Amino acid sequence: MKINLTNIKKAKKFLNKDECIGIPTETVYGLAANAYSDMACKKIFNLKKRPKNNPLIVHYYNIQNIRKDCNFNHDFLKLYKKFCPGPITFILELKKNSKISKIVTNKKNTLAVRFPKHPITRNLLKTLKFPLAAPSANFSSRVSAVDSSHIREDFDNKIKFILEGGKSNIGVESTIIDLRNKPTILRLGGLEVSKIQKILNKKIVRKNSNSKIMYPGQSKLHYSPGMPLKMNIKNAKDSEAFILLKKRKKIKSNYFFLSKKNNLKEAAKNLYSILRKIKKSKYKSIVVQRIPNRGLGITINDRLKRASKY
Ligand code: TXA
Ligand code: MG
Repeated sequence: MKINLTNIKKAKKFLNKDECIGIPTETVYGLAANAYSDMACKKIFNLKKRPKNNPLIVHYYNIQNIRKDCNFNHDFLKLYKKFCPGPITFILELKKNSKISKIVTNKKNTLAVRFPKHPITRNLLKTLKFPLAAPSANFSSRVSAVDSSHIREDFDNKIKFILEGGKSNIGVESTIIDLRNKPTILRLGGLEVSKIQKILNKKIVRKNSNSKIMYPGQSKLHYSPGMPLKMNIKNAKDSEAFILLKKRKKIKSNYFFLSKKNNLKEAAKNLYSILRKIKKSKYKSIVVQRIPNRGLGITINDRLKRASKY
């Protein structure tokens, strides 16, 4: 995608004035503001109607920029070198003298750090004097936005500016890993755990959704499409929206295809757009074909499982 410098300048202007704007990332769009400013960060929580005790991810250009804000270790360096910028978020120890707003961390001593890959947002981050706190740009407990039009759908004109970046390439949120002690996956996401495992070459703990909920953002009611959803279904009634992994020859009007062939990456990229499309259609319930539990299929199944708790 071509980088429009005028738009980046505009984005910068809004952010410098403590405003909150939409930004593209390779995973999903974010609702971004100056992570050092209490006032700017408060705006994010108000807009999203997000509970105050659910901390935000802070987005940086590169490793140099995080030194003032947090401590890191060898595991972090290995993963940073291999996967950043990219769809992974690290939970690290917050430094006592960090300027990160207490609103971002909910006064905890940890910080979620991410280095997004989208070239437009990287360009923006490079020129700013502060990192960007940004949750996914959707209403709390709804599916994330993977296209600027989705942000408009949720927030209408309440957001002053959206930096256009086309459709998000990965389509599901970043994988979150706590690296303070034993590496622990807190949220499955756009980077497969098997790839992380290969680099760290040690046991990785998985906090499954049954374990004590640490943060509301990890609660089961997340990612809800706003209607009943059932997984692993072979056949659908005509009155139900039917999500299939692979295009069929015989097409019915209630079929929604995640990919042309059996491609799980393409399926992840299309998942949230399809859920949003169905929400706007006449269908009142969703059934989904079995999705293989490998590669990004594991993340897709995680999101569908949460969505099915509606
Ligand atoms: O791909 C992504 O990660 C997107 C893009 C915009 O970067 N962001 C995103 O943010 O998904 P959000 O706020 O929708 O989800 C962040 C999750 C929440 O579940 C939150 O509870 C958790 O990260 N989180 C944030 N700070 C944390 C911390 N210090 N410790 C543990 N979890 C944390
Ligand atoms: Mg979110």
